[in-house]
Amino acid sequence: MTKSILDGRYVSNILYEKLKFKYEELVKIVGRKAGLAFIKVGNDKASTIYLNTKTKKCNEIGIYQETFTFDENITEEELIIEIRKLNENKNIDGILVQLPLPSHINYIKIMSEINPDKDVDGFHPENVGNLLFNDKGIYSCTPQGIMELLKFYKINVVGKDIVIIGRSNIVGKPMALMLINEGATVQVCNSKTKDLFHKVKQADILISATGVPRLIKSDCIKEGAVIIDVGISEFEGKLSGDVDFEDVYNNSRLSYISPVPGGVGPMTIYSLIKNTIRAFELNNIQLKKNM
Ligand code: GUN
Repeated sequence: MTKSILDGRYVSNILYEKLKFKYEELVKIVGRKAGLAFIKVGNDKASTIYLNTKTKKCNEIGIYQETFTFDENITEEELIIEIRKLNENKNIDGILVQLPLPSHINYIKIMSEINPDKDVDGFHPENVGNLLFNDKGIYSCTPQGIMELLKFYKINVVGKDIVIIGRSNIVGKPMALMLINEGATVQVCNSKTKDLFHKVKQADILISATGVPRLIKSDCIKEGAVIIDVGISEFEGKLSGDVDFEDVYNNSRLSYISPVPGGVGPMTIYSLIKNTIRAFELNNIQLKKNM
C-alpha cells in the first residue's frame, strides 16, 4: 500500500492561485481591498505567533489588515464597544478575535457581538446554527481547511467511520458537523473516553485535536487509515503534533497522513483568507445587488 503525505502547504498554494484571481476581480469592482481586523487581548505567546502568521498571509494576498491590541485587563463592556465600532466600519469586512481571551471575559458573549456577516472565524451562534442546519454561512476555519484537504486528495468521507479526538468548539464539534453533513459516521472522543485506542483502531479516518504530543502510536492505526493531525505542541524543544509521526508513518499501514507543521496549519490560514474574501464579496456586491 502506498503512503502519502497530505501536504497542506502545496494544496493551499494551489488554492490561493484560484482565489487570488477571483479576489483581484472583486477588488476592481468594489474599488478597495478587503479589510480584516484582528483583535488581540493580552500577550499570550502562542496567540502572537498565530496572529503573525495570519497577518503575513493577508499582506501576501493584498488584504488590508489591522491588529487591535488591548491590555489583558480590558473589561467585557469595553471590548464590546470596540467590536461594535468595527461592525460599523465600512472598510472592515472581517473581524477575528484571537482566542483564548482572559477568563474574566465571556468569549461566547464576545463572539455573539460580531456582525455574523463579518465573522470570518465562523464562531457567531448564527453561523454555528447555519453549520448545524447545513445551510449557507461562514464556517470555522480549521475544520473547513481539513474538508478542503480531504477533497483535494479525493478522499471520500461518505459512509466512512471517522474518529475525532477532541470536542472543542473550534475544531472537534464543527468538524463533526461538517462530516455528518457530508454523510460520514462520526465518533467524537475526549480525554474521558473509555477504550480510546480501541476506538481509534476502528477509524477509517482519524482526526486528532488534543494538543497532547505523540499521543497516537502505530499500534492503534487501522490498515489503510487516513490520519489528520490538528495538534500543535512542543515536545523536547521541537514542534510536535498529536501523532508520533515517525513511528506511525514507518510502522503502520496507513494510506494518508498530515504532517505537523505543513499539514492542517496552512489549510486553516487558507480558510481564513477564503472566508474574508467571501465576506468582502457578500457585504459589498451581493448585498448591493439585493437592494
Ligand atoms: N485560537 C486558536 N485557534 C483559533 C482560531 O481558529 N481562531 C481564533 N480566533 N482563535 C484561535
